[in-house]
Amino acid sequence: MSELKGNSVIISGVGSFTPPKVLSNNDLSKIVETTDEWIRSRTGIRERRIADDDMTTSDMAAQAGKEAIQNAGLETDDIGLIIVATVTPDMPFPNTACFVQKKLGMGKIPAFDIEAACSGFIYAMDVARGLMAVNGTKHALVIGAEKLSSITNWEDRTTCVLFGDGAGAVVISKSDKEDVGILNILTGADGSETDILMVPGGGSASPSTVETIERSMHKIQMQGNQVFKHAVRVMCQSASDVLEKSGLTADDVDIVVPHQANNRIIEALAQRLNVGLDRFKINLDRYGNTSAASIPIALDEAYRNGRIRPGDNILMVAFGGGLTWASAVIRWQ
Ligand code: UT7
Repeated sequence: MSELKGNSVIISGVGSFTPPKVLSNNDLSKIVETTDEWIRSRTGIRERRIADDDMTTSDMAAQAGKEAIQNAGLETDDIGLIIVATVTPDMPFPNTACFVQKKLGMGKIPAFDIEAACSGFIYAMDVARGLMAVNGTKHALVIGAEKLSSITNWEDRTTCVLFGDGAGAVVISKSDKEDVGILNILTGADGSETDILMVPGGGSASPSTVETIERSMHKIQMQGNQVFKHAVRVMCQSASDVLEKSGLTADDVDIVVPHQANNRIIEALAQRLNVGLDRFKINLDRYGNTSAASIPIALDEAYRNGRIRPGDNILMVAFGGGLTWASAVIRWQ
């Protein structure tokens, strides 16, 4: 492999995996008191993918990661770092990235997880490029993967209609090309709002007991309308800030790949940023909210559909539990 100068860090490969099983809104209306009309009009979601019981987060992550490595034209041995962003690790430890390493037969390279909820994938890219800058790693595998069905409360209609399973991955690589790749990433968090979106049980605060399980404390709890208000405000701010830091305006953005939580959040973002919805990549109608996986799945789909061309400015923006948020501007090479 040629020696790279490392001026830029580019996305050199993309991949994704979504499980084949489809759960439609009508299917859900047989489980909880809801309707296809309510879910579509309030969220934009029509269906989501659900992993079989024996399919883990790392199984999906490994599939997406393998595809991204192939798409980059690399071998697994070329990769020097694996980071998986997830809130649904296979188990509390070992970390999910170690399972991915084993499943793909990768080298004895650093492998760890990042948990920043729906913002996790952009956080992970930021951490990966930071490590690459200091330790000489040329190629990192960054994956967002979730089996949200495993922490969904299927008796709570206010949350169970929202989430789905899947994984998306990128390889990020040092490149000697000028003025392309990751131009800027911004991340932030507000720990004063931890309680509006959480899984309160199963950690050190409330270790698993019969009572925590009976009270569904191992499942997602969300105050949806509170989260909604923060999401719109924070995503707009973070997106504006990262554009400004990159010396770009909304007119310079070729495609926005937002976290796929709710069509109404995306519409508000489009309006406030003054970027037409036609420049947004939206696929939540088919996958629902897949948390850390949502941006890389959407990016992979946009790439494979020919929506991303050399020189394009891509804006990514995410928001999630924590509260956390993150945004990125990437110029495609
Ligand atoms: O990925 C991390 C970030 N997450 C998000 O960004 C999610 C943000 N939040 C949302 O997307 C929205 O708040 C929801 C889609 C979760 C909810 O939409 P909403 O317009 O905020 O509805 P709401 O929670 O204010 O509830 C309105 C009504 C309530 O009934 P009442 O009290 O008005 O009689 C709910 O009980 O809708 C009812 N409702 C439902 N009805 C039918 C809530 N869920 C359902 C449902 N089917 N599935």
